[in-house]
Amino acid sequence: MSALSAPVADRHVANRRTFAIISHPDAGKTTLTEKLLLFGGAIQMAGEVKARGDSRRVRSDWMAVERERGISVSSAVMTFVYDGLTYNLLDTPGHQDFSEDTYRTLTAVDSAVMVIDAAKGIETQTRKLFEVCRLRDVPIITFVNKMDREARDPFDLMSEIEEQLALDVTPATWPIGMGRDFLGTYDILNDTLLLFDRGEGARVTEAVRCSGLDDPKLAELLPAHALAKLTEEVEMVRGLCPPFDVESYRAGHLTPVFFGSAINNFGVRELLGGVAELAPPPRPQPAEPRAIAPTETKVAGFVFKVQANMDPQHRDRVAFVRLCSGRFQRGMKLKHVRTGRMMAVQNPMFFLAQDRNLAEEAWPGDILGIPNHGTLRIGDTLTEGEELKVTGIPNFAPEILRRVRLDDPMKSKHLKRALEQMADEGVTRVFKPLIGTDWIVGVVGQLQIDVLAERIRAEYDLKMHFEQAPYETARWVSADDKTLMKRFLDEVRGSLAEDHDGAPVFMARNSWELNRTQQDWPDVKFSATREQG
Ligand code: G4P
Repeated sequence: MSALSAPVADRHVANRRTFAIISHPDAGKTTLTEKLLLFGGAIQMAGEVKARGDSRRVRSDWMAVERERGISVSSAVMTFVYDGLTYNLLDTPGHQDFSEDTYRTLTAVDSAVMVIDAAKGIETQTRKLFEVCRLRDVPIITFVNKMDREARDPFDLMSEIEEQLALDVTPATWPIGMGRDFLGTYDILNDTLLLFDRGEGARVTEAVRCSGLDDPKLAELLPAHALAKLTEEVEMVRGLCPPFDVESYRAGHLTPVFFGSAINNFGVRELLGGVAELAPPPRPQPAEPRAIAPTETKVAGFVFKVQANMDPQHRDRVAFVRLCSGRFQRGMKLKHVRTGRMMAVQNPMFFLAQDRNLAEEAWPGDILGIPNHGTLRIGDTLTEGEELKVTGIPNFAPEILRRVRLDDPMKSKHLKRALEQMADEGVTRVFKPLIGTDWIVGVVGQLQIDVLAERIRAEYDLKMHFEQAPYETARWVSADDKTLMKRFLDEVRGSLAEDHDGAPVFMARNSWELNRTQQDWPDVKFSATREQG
């Protein structure tokens, strides 16, 4: 590739942190994101993430649904540089209806920050997202937020994380009081005191380094009762929790916990320091026939998200590509492995906060936005020529199935195109039953149905409606034995459909029928997920 020596490339890899924040709605993800971006100087003013998001929303018509419901449908990537490191923060939409998009975003990160509301602990969405991280052993740093409010006992929170997520827990910092009596945190790993300065707003408090809990400085800075309690609690922590072990964290077995208050910008710098010091740089990417190492010199990357209407003036779609290896340069020709065609990447974009810049070069861990007219699909791999296919990007069996009915049957070709494009973007699954003329769409949540209807009307000017489908669930089917598979497909033809890649799908009227068929055909695999591409 380039004339750059390997150490230079290695340094770029070592200096990248690509991560996501996972949380239950309202735990403080947006607030924390803003504060992190402030550190990077990527935004001037707190509040801009939301404000910018709002103005973008207003510009985009089809997002009327989103505006009405006041939730964010699309996820984005934000890049910022702080203290010599480049951070790529991938935003995961919090609403549970869009968990599929979220899941796929999590395939593109090397680590995650789990934000927990100190008064609430682990909530449903936290647990779901955590499970996805666990599938890929994504290392997790925990941030217990809102310590400025009445919170649950920190020991309680620790054991809840440990028990509910089956994860070892080690506090990196420990809170001194809470709510109105919140005085700050003690950094257990580095022996520093961080005092909470009420009323200082966005100002970052300087940490006081000390030699340990018996350092006389602490007695000057903290009331006696608070210091006594802190000393006792830290001793308990050291006795009860396993010592911090970076390998165990990076393998996804242990989570270091930071306490703070995002809205007060308290503990955020320490959290970012934790990401810098502990979180792994770009990891090897599982692929067939071999894994891709980030230090390889040739470029490889994969599409984890496709977004339309980023610019409503153009019908372009942007494919979000996570770079896995090599030094990408603008204008480079890359092989689109699924079609075998070479494509010149002339206008790749970078995302600095909400701004988009032309990307001249990118390194492993970086996210590129590649505008295209629908060539690039979720799960697609791009390389400098090698036949590699990135694995581990799942398709989920939809939980809601609907039959699509056109008001004007003459428009069925248009409908086909619209549905296929939506399927490419991952907005919906599309199934064509082998018998019958109607399309069936499948989504993971009800809101996706509304977004889909809105977009088909607005973008394709098609009058259609959804009807209850005669099916309740769908499963991708496969068998090692080709003859058996053929026999199966012939037998259940009335319940068969193809997904938009032509893969066979068994449509079951109810779970009883699915169970029966599975029992009747024990050598056929019924799968609720399918690898993309
Ligand atoms: P989300 O993205 O995870 O959904 O959460 P978001 O940051 O929007 O925060 C949810 C609410 O919690 C917001 O209040 C936010 O101001 C508040 N919050 C975030 N961090 C802290 C914290 O450290 N301490 C306290 N006390 N509150 C915090 P809101 O009233 O719902 O919204 P807003 O009107 O303040 O924007």
